[in-house]
Amino acid sequence: MKFFIDTANLEQIKEAQDMGILDGVTTNPSLMAKEGITGTNNILKHYVDICNLVDGDVSAEVIATDFEGMVKEGEALADLHDQIVVKLPMIKDGVKACKYFSDKGIKTNMTLVFSPGQALLAAKAGATYVSPFIGRLDDISTDGLNLIAEIRMIYDNYGFDTEILAASVRHTMHVIDCAKLGADVMTGPLSSITGLLNHPLTDIGLEKFLADYKKGN
Ligand code: G3P
Repeated sequence: MKFFIDTANLEQIKEAQDMGILDGVTTNPSLMAKEGITGTNNILKHYVDICNLVDGDVSAEVIATDFEGMVKEGEALADLHDQIVVKLPMIKDGVKACKYFSDKGIKTNMTLVFSPGQALLAAKAGATYVSPFIGRLDDISTDGLNLIAEIRMIYDNYGFDTEILAASVRHTMHVIDCAKLGADVMTGPLSSITGLLNHPLTDIGLEKFLADYKKGN
């Protein structure tokens, strides 16, 4: 399972990268705004800064909602760095733009996916990644993890190679459950990754090992 971090915060990206377990980064306009990155030039520069920090794919989202606009923006994003993945919204023109980019060999991530039918369309359009938002489904009392299971079944039925990128992951159990269900990738906050480290028996055991070592030295 690939681990992506869902943030535009350079310190957090660096921390995950330094652990040696980071496979990529996802961003969106809200995450950019949260870091105070505004204005096209600053946003484009920030994407390059992120690419220079990590070894893997970096999803950069278009703002346009029409096909021509998405193509123009997506091409500019893809030209920034070879790690950029063009992130497109799950609307009709987004699907069309996904097909356009996949035909050109440019990686894509279809975002704001909330149903198996949307995921099927993303795969048909040749998306590199599909991003089902599990946390936001949980927020409205719908089972986000069930969507991962349904997409896994559909993609396996037909051998689609679009990778299931479980998004809107909020905590460690989302990560573990997505891994059990066979999601190819998860993207979440740094806490959902570092939280996987925690176990009281690890802390107690380490404390005892160190205390016993001190007794003999
Ligand atoms: O990857 C999608 C993500 O940014 C949305 O997460 O927590 O805002 O639902 P959240």
